[in-house]
Amino acid sequence: MKQRIQKLISAAGLASRRQAEEWISAGRVTVNGRQASLGDQADPALDRVEVDGRALGSGGRKIYLLLNKPVGYVTTLKDPQGRPTVVDLVQDLRERIYPVGRLDLNTAGLLILTNDGEFANHLTHPRHQVKKTYLVRVRGRLSDAARRQLERGVKLEDGLTAPAQVSSVRASGAHTWFELTIHEGRNRQVRRMCEAVGFSVSRLMRIRLGFLELGTLPPGQYRQLSGGEVSKLKKL
Ligand code: URA
Repeated sequence: MKQRIQKLISAAGLASRRQAEEWISAGRVTVNGRQASLGDQADPALDRVEVDGRALGSGGRKIYLLLNKPVGYVTTLKDPQGRPTVVDLVQDLRERIYPVGRLDLNTAGLLILTNDGEFANHLTHPRHQVKKTYLVRVRGRLSDAARRQLERGVKLEDGLTAPAQVSSVRASGAHTWFELTIHEGRNRQVRRMCEAVGFSVSRLMRIRLGFLELGTLPPGQYRQLSGGEVSKLKKL
């Protein structure tokens, strides 16, 4: 299938789409030996796309990392306000990687970083309904009514949420901890769901994505996903 060349370059993990467009404009990209122009399309199965004379797909190493994002880091590549980004935590790589999905500034936990655009699209596509589990702390006691509402679906300004699972509810001092599993990925969804049923979230950490567990990985640390984990994630 034909696709825009900047999309092919970014899917191959060489650059962002914006950067790829600049490369095309600068004449560094060819398709079947002819210099490409912005707006050109190519079929990765049939056409040979080269950047600086090097073919896409030849030797591009794919990277898959599982990071424990600490609170206070933004999930973008660059922050206009100069705050630290999750990519700053991964210093020793030459490849350009980016986060799969997003966690709020004040959310901690499991975040995948990769340079494999197709993999990232697969995991974040709503059709695949990948389950995400969050450890949530709210002020007060979570009532049975609020729990049932979270499980049935909550009316938010962008519509009703899909049924969710609440488990491992535990009171601790003035707070309640529980696990909430959702498969949608709306903006600030867990915080908004809890607010809608009368609870303010004071801690939020993603502890599971599909079958992947955050486990005991310390905040700010990351590990490589194994080949087995990557192929299992591609099948989710
Ligand atoms: N839900 C939220 O409210 N925030 C996150 O970071 C992730 C899910």
